Amino acid sequence: MQPDIRPIGLLDSGVGGLSVLREVHKQLPNEDILYFADQGHVPYGQRPIEEIHRFSLEITRFLLDNQAKVIVVACNTASAASLHTLRHEFPSVTFVGMEPAVKPAAENTNCGVIGVIMTRATFQGELFASLIDRYASDVEVATQVCPDFVTLVEKGELDTPAAEDAARRYLKPLLEAGIDELVLGCTHFPFLTPVLQKVVGPDVEIIDPAPAVARQVGRVISGCRNDPDHEGQMSYFTSGDKDAFLLLAPRLLGEPVRPEQAAAVSWQAGRIVL
Ligand code: DGL
Repeated sequence: MQPDIRPIGLLDSGVGGLSVLREVHKQLPNEDILYFADQGHVPYGQRPIEEIHRFSLEITRFLLDNQAKVIVVACNTASAASLHTLRHEFPSVTFVGMEPAVKPAAENTNCGVIGVIMTRATFQGELFASLIDRYASDVEVATQVCPDFVTLVEKGELDTPAAEDAARRYLKPLLEAGIDELVLGCTHFPFLTPVLQKVVGPDVEIIDPAPAVARQVGRVISGCRNDPDHEGQMSYFTSGDKDAFLLLAPRLLGEPVRPEQAAAVSWQAGRIVL
């Protein structure tokens, strides 16, 4: 089979999707990746669904114009709001989306109480209600909307007193409900795992869906892999401040990001301009 050198496209409202990118890169080291951080519009979680649709559609168009062979919506909020619309608008494109990992949490719980933390848009979307119906009818589900976590991660506040305060405030009701599984229903949240684990203690399992999503990406590109000798390259676009991105992304990824790997884009009349 001829190698398919086109990149994988990933999108998120900001740096959250880098938690998915690092897993995709780990599992598929020969693939090039284009990552779009819509930091000019972060956070998505408090926005109306129509607005999230518009952003996701245009970012998808942008990534496809840049030759993406598959689109990974590395954002629970955009997946909950827009995955249906994206599949409808781009019927020939393969999408991989995110959903809170309610199923494994419901399977793994010993005490029958699971916690799910996410954004408001994900919580209010139909996808979450249907996940609960399908997989969690036999367990108690304690939920919490945590918008401050997104802001903290965007500011690089991963292990500060402010991050720990927010974690204690948001997780208190879930701990009182007696959870033994905590589902990270937003791609920004895995970067707070050390602080979250400290607050919930060692007996609560934290579930980050990124490894499962990366496996799914591997399955959908099984017929269009890059050359096994190729070393995958990352390219980043941000609609926010490129210098700030260049400072934060290496901290989150645990590896350097060179200035020439990142580009700033802007939104003009609803379109993305490089
Ligand atoms: N990372 C996102 C998610 O997975 C979006 C957070 C936000 O922009 O509110 O939901």
